[in-house]
Amino acid sequence: MSEQPAFKNIGPARETEIYSLGFTGDSLSAPVAVDLLEQKAKQALSPEAYDYVAGAAGGEDTSRANREAFYRWRIVPRMLRDVTHRDLSVELFGARFPMPILLGPVGVQGIIHAEGEVASARAAASLGLPFVLSTASSRSIENVADLAGKAGTAPRWFQLYWTKNPEITASMLQRAERAGYAALVVTLDTTILGWRERDLQRRYLPFLLGQGLANFFSDPAFRALLPQPPEQNPAAAIQLWGSLFSNPALTWNDLPFLRQHTSLPILLKGIQHPADAARALDAGVDGIIVSNHGGRQVDGGIASLDALPGVVSEVRGRVPVLFDSGIRRGADVFKALALGARAVLIGRLYTYGLAISGEQGVRDVLLNLLADFDLTMALSGYASCSALDSSALAPAP
Ligand code: FNR
Repeated sequence: MSEQPAFKNIGPARETEIYSLGFTGDSLSAPVAVDLLEQKAKQALSPEAYDYVAGAAGGEDTSRANREAFYRWRIVPRMLRDVTHRDLSVELFGARFPMPILLGPVGVQGIIHAEGEVASARAAASLGLPFVLSTASSRSIENVADLAGKAGTAPRWFQLYWTKNPEITASMLQRAERAGYAALVVTLDTTILGWRERDLQRRYLPFLLGQGLANFFSDPAFRALLPQPPEQNPAAAIQLWGSLFSNPALTWNDLPFLRQHTSLPILLKGIQHPADAARALDAGVDGIIVSNHGGRQVDGGIASLDALPGVVSEVRGRVPVLFDSGIRRGADVFKALALGARAVLIGRLYTYGLAISGEQGVRDVLLNLLADFDLTMALSGYASCSALDSSALAPAP
């Protein structure tokens, strides 16, 4: 991939760049310090939007557990191993990416920034990192594809929310494939929305205001169900969406439907139990994403990082296992990879950059994460992702 040389020693290069801003008088588009980044994002967003993004299910125990799980593992650095030439690239489904980091599907980015998913997808493309577009996005599949760069240089995957209506599902799969999206991420953990106290308290759900529905409003199969187009009668369109979105009846027996309607690699997102990983393999999927949706669905759930080793040992390398939920820094990426993830997805982290400075904010947040990860690898004695395994970690005392 042409972007790869740009990441040679990105850690030291990024440090130099940031320190040199002190001499030029330029400022950063977004804070480097992650806690400050979140604080600034909070200031930039409406209280409703901030709570929607930062919040999680119930008492937010799962969300906290996601972070705490990282603290229970410690990196054990190795010395004198010549890490001058670091290649942190990773291969997934026949494509090589410069770093094992993807921008995960985060819906309704229009409440975060006016350019929404287009800004995030452009920032990802500028670094050669895959961007996963949500079904619930503020911009349509085609709009993001048109505005965020050519598929070859701007890798994009599509995330499916599988509604009750099979024609709409089939239509969205075809649209994604036609628009050059290279993989399908099927989110299994959100057949119904979780109990999110912050949003319920504010009585705020962006979809009920018609936000995050661009893929539905532009879909021919969805539009065919409406007496008037969404532009003329948005209330009826929102109501139709509400009646179709929740689909708790889905079972493993439904998976062949997806294979019939797409030739893209299929990844299942939301797997936490090794037995479900086994079922996913039986169903012939191409990849698994260990995720608990950033704690937004089940309160009191297992930390996603704690679920990772069980899934990895069940899968035994037969398909790539990706990971998300709780990644904030380079050390987190390192730990997830050491526990067997092929790559990680980030969610809230990049949206905080989006809130503060749009495309540039996302790009800077990504550059900082890449640099931090590169330095963590170098200083721990690892020059490639494949060299990492659990011997790089020790349980915290
Ligand atoms: C999400 N996530 C998500 N996942 C998905 O499959 N489809 C979606 O539309 C959304 N939408 C969404 C909105 C917001 C505001 C957030 C914060 C998250 C979940 C996302 O893909 C990912 O699993 C988590 O964000 C990972 O946790 P971290 O990185 O935010 O801790």
